[in-house]
Amino acid sequence: MYFSDDTIAEVRAASDIVDVVSDYVRLKKKGSNFFGLCPFHQEKTPSFSVNPELGIFKCFGCGAGGDVFRFVREVEGMSFPEAVRTLAEKAGIELPEEGTASRERADTMEAVYGALRFAARFFYGQLIQADSGQRALAYMQRRGYSNAILKEFGVGYAPDGWNRLLKEAEAKHISADTLEQAGLVIPQKSGEGHYDRYRDRVMFPIFSHMGKVLGFGGRVLDDTAGEQENPQPKYINSPETIVYDKRRVLYGLHQARQVIREQEEAVLVEGYTDVMSLYQAGLRNAVASCGTSLTREQVQLLHRYAQRILLVFDADGAGEKAARRAIDLVLADGMSVYVVELPPGEDPDSVAQREGASLNDYLIKHRVDFVRWLHDADRRAGRLDTPEGRAAGMRAVLQAIACIPDVLTREAWLPRASEIFSIPEGRLYDVLEGMATSRQHEEFRRSGRTGRPVSGAGRQPTGRSVRRSDGAFTKKSHRQASGTRSSVSSTLATEKILIRLMFEQGLPMVTYILGNTSLNEFSPGAPRRTVEGFAEQHQAGAVNRQAFLDGAYGSDVQQFVAEVAVRREEPSENWEQKRGVVVPRLDENPEEAARQAMKRLKIVRVDEAIAHTAEEQSRAEASGDDIRTYQQDIIQLQALRRRLEKGEVIR
Ligand code: UTP
Ligand code: MN
Repeated sequence: MYFSDDTIAEVRAASDIVDVVSDYVRLKKKGSNFFGLCPFHQEKTPSFSVNPELGIFKCFGCGAGGDVFRFVREVEGMSFPEAVRTLAEKAGIELPEEGTASRERADTMEAVYGALRFAARFFYGQLIQADSGQRALAYMQRRGYSNAILKEFGVGYAPDGWNRLLKEAEAKHISADTLEQAGLVIPQKSGEGHYDRYRDRVMFPIFSHMGKVLGFGGRVLDDTAGEQENPQPKYINSPETIVYDKRRVLYGLHQARQVIREQEEAVLVEGYTDVMSLYQAGLRNAVASCGTSLTREQVQLLHRYAQRILLVFDADGAGEKAARRAIDLVLADGMSVYVVELPPGEDPDSVAQREGASLNDYLIKHRVDFVRWLHDADRRAGRLDTPEGRAAGMRAVLQAIACIPDVLTREAWLPRASEIFSIPEGRLYDVLEGMATSRQHEEFRRSGRTGRPVSGAGRQPTGRSVRRSDGAFTKKSHRQASGTRSSVSSTLATEKILIRLMFEQGLPMVTYILGNTSLNEFSPGAPRRTVEGFAEQHQAGAVNRQAFLDGAYGSDVQQFVAEVAVRREEPSENWEQKRGVVVPRLDENPEEAARQAMKRLKIVRVDEAIAHTAEEQSRAEASGDDIRTYQQDIIQLQALRRRLEKGEVIR
């Protein structure tokens, strides 16, 4: 499609670049420019800037830059015409027609949006003005909702009967087909005609974050409906349609996003009514997922506006489960997460209605960090009463911490976990490190950030783990991934111990360690290349320490070995204390120290392989492939893990 220069100039003039960028990046004003975290590369301090006067963006970190069209193209992966169209739509500019399949799709979407907008108006009119809506209006008022809040959220009423909306829409020349595509009517089983999906329900429109109606949640008026002879679901939600992708939509975000941006915090709740009640009590930064469990995409959407998430879920089993899931997802996306535990049987709606204007104080008073909340949830349920339960509880906490992508933030949570569980911090360290490393493998592969081959390789059946008879194991895709992985890999304490032992003890120790490990058990980069160096020397029959320190294996190996070796004077004790690494003094019983370290290293790698294979398995499952080989691999790996725990495998 070709757009004239005039058209392009018109769209450009109508597009506020700060507004457009703000949909993706949280911007802060400094002087006449705006700054934020670059959406085009990973960074922790903002080097991305927007200049509204010139209408351009520029990242001083990765060099990306250009005008508003360039921004939309890059961030959405769109062609130029698509970017023009997107911006034109946002600015309300009509573009000249074109005649392609994508145009047809755009037409359908337009018609569906039109039908949904029409339906929302119709339902709202029914609630506020029509006689038929009186009962529903009274119901909502009884629940404490003011007319202003009903209007703000566009709440309506779908009248009883089988074709009220259908008739009304047809009178406005909206076809039954379009209504069906919008999820508003359902075709008759007989194959002829349609009937309304929503009948005698309070209607909660679901808006896109930009304010377009995408669908509805419709609630019964009668809470005994589920127990009657002909049971009715409490909510009927719109199906996914050409315009409604449930994974990418949050209820209330349209109303809340400005406040979320200002406060940098979003409150995540479970229900439509929760969002509205919080809003009415003055908390205008609440959102909910719409009848589905929280998704990664929803969290990413929130992250455009928020830096912290406060979870306020129902005080029941389902709420707890949902909160656990949300904690991991939020942490994994690099945000902070806090939780408010409500009194048993309550939900945010009931608390908001009771607390009214003091709701904010209530939430401030009762908010706790996620470690505290996870621990307390287990304690309340009596799950910490047994050693096994305590171990599971700690593991869950460490697993949550391991989701945090930033290593410093991750480690900064350890003192808290240590305090709450009364376990020395060092003990938690290695477990965490292992979990975090295997998570990062997954993340890295999934995102394919530094190149497709990584995730591509993961899809091959060759990605399966293969155990060698000596207990070392190889993972093809892991190894392929490792070349590009170094930026996210961290060196394990255990491998440092092993390298230090080889360095200190010389040939017999090198023989012992190399005989019991394989190269790919060491982290890629300096650690693995150091071990490679020892292997070379071993083949030549003599260990030459000085070669490492002289830089014969490259400067990163030189630095790495120096760092590991320098720590030996006294830091070895220090290290032990700090990390709780349970090794005998290295000079007392080096053999045993090496055994322990190899055992721990192997367990970490087996855990990674298990996580990796499980991920492969679920991917295979999703695409309908045979998963038996994955299952067998996992069983084998688990058996290997048990043998390692028992101290077998290593000679
Ligand atoms: P709740 O059962 O907690 O409902 O479900 P609620 O939102 O608190 O509604 P009230 O206050 O009892 O009227 C929480 C959310 O789960 C989804 C809806 O999104 C709801 O808001 N849900 C619940 C469904 O999709 N279908 C259902 O049948 C029930
Ligand atoms: Mn609820």
